[in-house]
Amino acid sequence: MARLTNTSYSRRMHEINMSVRRRRYLLLRVADEPALDIWRFFRGEVHIGAEPRCSLLCPVRGESLPLTPAELALIMTVPADRWLTTAELQNMDGEARMCLLDLARRGVLLCDPAPESLNDLVDGEEVLEQMQWHDVAAVYQAHSRWKGVVGNNLLMKDGGDAHEVRLEELRGVRGDPPPHFVQRSDAQERVPLRVPVLDGPFFDALLARRTTRAYRSEEPLSASALELMLYAVFGTHGIKFFAKDIAAIKRTSPSGGALHPIEAYVLVINVQDMPAGLYHYETGAHVLAELERMDRVNARNLACEFTAGQTYFAEAHALVIHVARFDRNYWKYAQHRKAYKAVLMDSAHLSQTFYLTAAHLGLGAFYTVAINDADIGSRLRLKPVREAAIAINGFGIADNGRDDLQFMPDPYRPTGIG
Ligand SMILES: Cc1cc2nc3c(=O)[nH]c(=O)nc-3n(C[C@H](O)[C@H](O)[C@H](O)COP(=O)(O)O)c2cc1C
Repeated sequence: MARLTNTSYSRRMHEINMSVRRRRYLLLRVADEPALDIWRFFRGEVHIGAEPRCSLLCPVRGESLPLTPAELALIMTVPADRWLTTAELQNMDGEARMCLLDLARRGVLLCDPAPESLNDLVDGEEVLEQMQWHDVAAVYQAHSRWKGVVGNNLLMKDGGDAHEVRLEELRGVRGDPPPHFVQRSDAQERVPLRVPVLDGPFFDALLARRTTRAYRSEEPLSASALELMLYAVFGTHGIKFFAKDIAAIKRTSPSGGALHPIEAYVLVINVQDMPAGLYHYETGAHVLAELERMDRVNARNLACEFTAGQTYFAEAHALVIHVARFDRNYWKYAQHRKAYKAVLMDSAHLSQTFYLTAAHLGLGAFYTVAINDADIGSRLRLKPVREAAIAINGFGIADNGRDDLQFMPDPYRPTGIG
């Protein structure tokens, strides 16, 4: 496929042999948007009404591209399975042709040759198709991506009653929330259960599991703690070849289809004898492959950027970024409606194992999906559309003396039928 630079494109667009086609991943949103009432404006009144607007949800860039109903009707006449040739475009009514070229310039239609600024759209759609992404999942993945988001760190600012005040405000707007305990009114009978004693090291770890937001960041974590966490959670403990070069690996967490599409990338911040920086954990060899070295201050700043400004998580000693290899999963589950969900759940299972292992070692841990995944993808040089960061676990030496940011529930015992 030919490529043009931006400037030559705009200068020569009317001269070149350009073909266009409809996108094959084309999902639309129709939503009311605020619009100035022009007739009332001319009468001297400012009235903002609601007007339905249509937009294409780009599954590559995560943008919403506005469309008029007339443009949509025109797009429906353009084929998606082949390029509309220059000759065919020439034979069209002049206004329709100009409209199609405009849609191509805005990235609504795909064009060949593509201007440099739109290359990623054509390439992205090709990869989506080749990988057999399910269209709804592709749109969701692209539209849930964050770049440069800095949260307002509400946890840090909230003191005393602020949280309660905010919840009461929410109640004012949305009414009462759904209840914390659920009782079915259509239950035929209730069977009382004995409350067992959860004893022994496994249950100790299970009951000690918690999200930690305060770490003794100046005290280095031992390298053996990092080794253990990686091996216990992301290590390979078994392998089975089902065909030549087609193997499933065994980890301590379950995985849809035993595919284990989640890779661990480590941001080392303060670990003994381990330079701060970004690494890829090669599970087959149990090796950390260094991608980028940096000093501790930069590593901490990067942790804060990656977690969208959650400064308390940047206090941790190491972060483990969960990177999904969608291509590994979709190779088996092509166009599968549940495949995307399964990948996300794989990450969640790994996270629980991460939490439990940290609790077993007496370390603090956290998990977050509020991450700048687009920035992480660029920094780790991930393959667009094929791979993406989807969550981050972090861990380190907990500072149990600073509990102000922790979830500190009161003890609870089941009430029985009462
Ligand atoms: C999917 C998911 C996303 C989360 N994201 C965040 C987050 O962005 N920031 C944060 O402080 N905690 C985050 N947490 C941790 C929860 O806030 C925490 O699990 C919850 O408050 C209960 O506390 P516990 O883990 O100590 O039981 C997340 C947990 C999950 C499972």
